[in-house]
Amino acid sequence: MAETLPRLRLDPADPLAGLGGFASVALEIGFGGGEHALAEIAAHPEVALIACEVYANGIASLLGRLVPEGGEAGAPLPPHLRLWDGDARIVLRAVPEASLARVFLLFPDPWPKARHAKRRFVHPENLPLIAGALCPGGEWRIATDDPTYQAWVAETLAAQRFFAPAAPMTMRPPDWAPTRYEAKALKAGRTPLYWSLRRV
Ligand SMILES: C[S@@+](CC[C@H](N)C(=O)[O-])C[C@H]1O[C@@H](n2cnc3c(N)ncnc32)[C@H](O)[C@@H]1O
Repeated sequence: MAETLPRLRLDPADPLAGLGGFASVALEIGFGGGEHALAEIAAHPEVALIACEVYANGIASLLGRLVPEGGEAGAPLPPHLRLWDGDARIVLRAVPEASLARVFLLFPDPWPKARHAKRRFVHPENLPLIAGALCPGGEWRIATDDPTYQAWVAETLAAQRFFAPAAPMTMRPPDWAPTRYEAKALKAGRTPLYWSLRRV
């Protein structure tokens, strides 16, 4: 965390610094242990990924898979990866308008109690932020296994104008990498839903 994270950390004052040569830029909100982020950078070396996570153990887990022990300060790092160890909304506010091709929100914390609904990432207050950062035609991928959150996503999407209406899928499309929370949900017998939304 002390040596490798600063080498990858995004600068909110210049969030796309060094990423101009890539075909497009994607953002992952809450990468957890980093399984999906690592799969994305391996599958798409031409696409830059800004991966955000507030949970220190998650960040440490991703860093541990990126660099071998002893290579923290000097091992080569993927040129198309930036990390943000804070609230993803800070990045969404910092990036230029319409600069992202894709946003991933996979298995966000569900906050199932109604009195905590304001903490859910899919929220009418956050939609303009995500929509503003995405380019026209850009994709927002959402997955959740929590029934309350599934209904909440459907209700929130039905009441907005930024994304074209799209029914959720019950199977993860083949080009989406799996995550640890998805594996937990499937093991527990829950059925995740997957939305692929297009910015109007
Ligand atoms: C339930 S976990 C899912 C992790 C991973 N996406 C997966 O599917 O395995 C949700 C993660 O989102 C992170 N998170 C919650 N709010 C966030 C925010 N505003 N910005 C960045 N990360 C956030 C949490 O720390 C947590 O690790």
